[in-house]
Amino acid sequence: MKNVLVTGVNGQIGSELSDLLEAKYNVDKVVGLDIRPSLPPYKRAHEIVDITKKEAFRHVLEKHQIDTIFHLASILSAVGEKNPDQAWDINMTGLKNVLDLVRGTAIKVFWPSSIAVFGPNSPKMNTPQDTILGPTTMYGITKNAGELLCNYYFDKFDVDVRSVRYPGIISYKTEPGGGTTDYAVEIFYEAIKHKVYTCFVTSQTCLPMMYMEDALHAAAEVMFADKAQIGVRTSYNLAAVSFTAEELAEEIKKHIPDFHCNFVPDFRQKIAESWPRVIDDSVARKEWAWQHKYDLAAITEDMLTQLKKKIKLN
Ligand SMILES: NC(=O)c1ccc[n+]([C@@H]2O[C@H](COP(=O)([O-])OP(=O)(O)OC[C@H]3O[C@@H](n4cnc5c(N)ncnc54)[C@H](O)[C@@H]3O)[C@@H](O)[C@H]2O)c1
Repeated sequence: MKNVLVTGVNGQIGSELSDLLEAKYNVDKVVGLDIRPSLPPYKRAHEIVDITKKEAFRHVLEKHQIDTIFHLASILSAVGEKNPDQAWDINMTGLKNVLDLVRGTAIKVFWPSSIAVFGPNSPKMNTPQDTILGPTTMYGITKNAGELLCNYYFDKFDVDVRSVRYPGIISYKTEPGGGTTDYAVEIFYEAIKHKVYTCFVTSQTCLPMMYMEDALHAAAEVMFADKAQIGVRTSYNLAAVSFTAEELAEEIKKHIPDFHCNFVPDFRQKIAESWPRVIDDSVARKEWAWQHKYDLAAITEDMLTQLKKKIKLN
């Protein structure tokens, strides 16, 4: 892994992945790509390209002699439900362009799937690696089809594409981009700024979540694993912690005792209810030694410490 391209580099995950790859994984050069201009203080090469435009994307791969792609450019679940045509176009055409352009080359690809790949008929507890999927959102449908496409390109064309099904990701550097688990980030900002938050899912809604540091390490580690270790070419179940919205609010109250959370569910409640509560990620743990570091208490403590510095209320 020498010359790495991160698509969707301005997003919640992309904006943090470049630093980690350079700092901890000895990557020589990271090039960012996004449909939007780079966010300050990003100082690396940055290409403004629409991922659905194949020739422009090909030019970037050739220009920078890319050998590894982290393909993160995407439309997320809540935004995708408002504009399903755009979600299909960017998520599917974008992924197919990536896979087509790396066919016949040695370029490796990381592409994240999501817990949104599951649907109302999937088991909610300890959801296994192989089970009923049946997503009901356009976002989830693109993840389901994307997983099959990755598996197809591996089987048929030997494309080395690897994937994990991310749960909701909690982070403080870049705000989330319109997913159903965004409440688990917004709640921290509002707790610090106003000591009150109106949560858009019910208090008992329980979803799998992960701290950003763990999510970034998962992406890097699945990519650094030997090819022989990767037995799943659709996408690996990946988990860290599961908690209800109320449990999250109670954990924050341990640090901010006068914090109050109201629960007023909106259209995202239905999406959340279609997803698993607890994921069984034993296959990833066994095959490439996946482990998470952050539990709910550690996530809460670090989020509050970092966000207080960021929004300068300390
Ligand atoms: N954040 C999460 O909680 C989460 C959970 C599960 C899976 N994922 C997956 O991880 C990946 C990254 O998620 P994220 O949270 O960083 O997303 P995000 O919405 O924060 O960022 C996506 C980025 O893609 C860019 N983009 C959108 N359309 C583009 C296009 N046509 N061409 C080029 N760039 C384009 C956007 O400008 C944005 O910077 C996605 O595949 C997402 O489905 C994220």
